[in-house]
Amino acid sequence: MSIDRVFVIGAGLMGHGIAQVSATAGKQVTLSDRTAELANKGRDRIAGNLARLVEKGKLDQSQAEAILGRVATAVGPDGAAGHDLVIEAVFEDEALKRETWVALTKAADPDAVFATNTSSISITGLATATDRPPRFIGLHFFSPVPVMQLIEIIRGLETDDDTYDACRAFAQDLGKIVIESKDMPGFLVNRMLGPFINEAVFALMESTGSAEDIDTGAKLGLNHPMGPLELADFVGNDVMLGVLDVLYRGFGDPKFRAAPLLRQMVTAGHLGRKTGRGFYRYDEKGNRLGR
Ligand code: 3HC
Repeated sequence: MSIDRVFVIGAGLMGHGIAQVSATAGKQVTLSDRTAELANKGRDRIAGNLARLVEKGKLDQSQAEAILGRVATAVGPDGAAGHDLVIEAVFEDEALKRETWVALTKAADPDAVFATNTSSISITGLATATDRPPRFIGLHFFSPVPVMQLIEIIRGLETDDDTYDACRAFAQDLGKIVIESKDMPGFLVNRMLGPFINEAVFALMESTGSAEDIDTGAKLGLNHPMGPLELADFVGNDVMLGVLDVLYRGFGDPKFRAAPLLRQMVTAGHLGRKTGRGFYRYDEKGNRLGR
């Protein structure tokens, strides 16, 4: 089974990046969202990223045009027919993901492979919203997708070998390194990242140190490219809270309880870069302004 045509639903931070790397690898891509405006915004972000690569001399103008020429847009799940692989990258909300998969099951070809980019929700569980648990899998990308080398592949209880092999080959076509995780809450990476970020928020909440010192500690003391609070703002505090809640419920272990400050920030709408305010403040382009 070869994957040449890819439908990506959800044109946000992850979805537009997934579409970009797929088109760069020569795949025909359709990028879809709830409205034409959102889908076009995702495609415009790809155009902007490609233009920067051209400016840096990493891509020819003609290559950039060819890549962008492979990205079509659509509204909702309706254009999913005619694609070998459907990747879902909508908000990290189980009810919304299930609803999206019910609609995609009706719209997509019967033999298409289904992959979710969930950060932590059960693959086995989401597969039950479709008619094809054997052809359903987790393909977990990392942000920023064009830069991060990893894809975490998660097999649900019923995922078959053909689906796994095709998705592994697809990930390799994108130039990514693959790790495999069992379908356990948070998989491998977010099971580590969730408690790390959460502990940083507890330290801030308890006034053990300032946000800047916590982040500088991780950057200079651990050689991380970003500190945990910066990273939470980058990924989205709502996404990190969702990961922690899945870990807490899934393992039933109090060590995963989310820091009350993280929950408060999400309640207040301080989701990080995307809302202009999180642990730090940002301008409309996402540049840091300070606290
Ligand atoms: N899209 C495309 N390329 C980007 C980019 C973006 N959004 N942001 C940065 N880049 C590229 C730059 O163009 C630059 O490329 P070059 O080296 O070829 O010129 C390179 O990345 C480095 O960027 P900068 O020099 O501007 O900035 P930094 O050196 O500070 O790097 C960073 C930025 C790559 C984001 C780095 O800070 C980093 O790696 N941070 C950690 C990211 C991380 O941990 N991601 C995982 C989050 S967890 C997740 O996604 C899972 C989810 O389920 C929660």
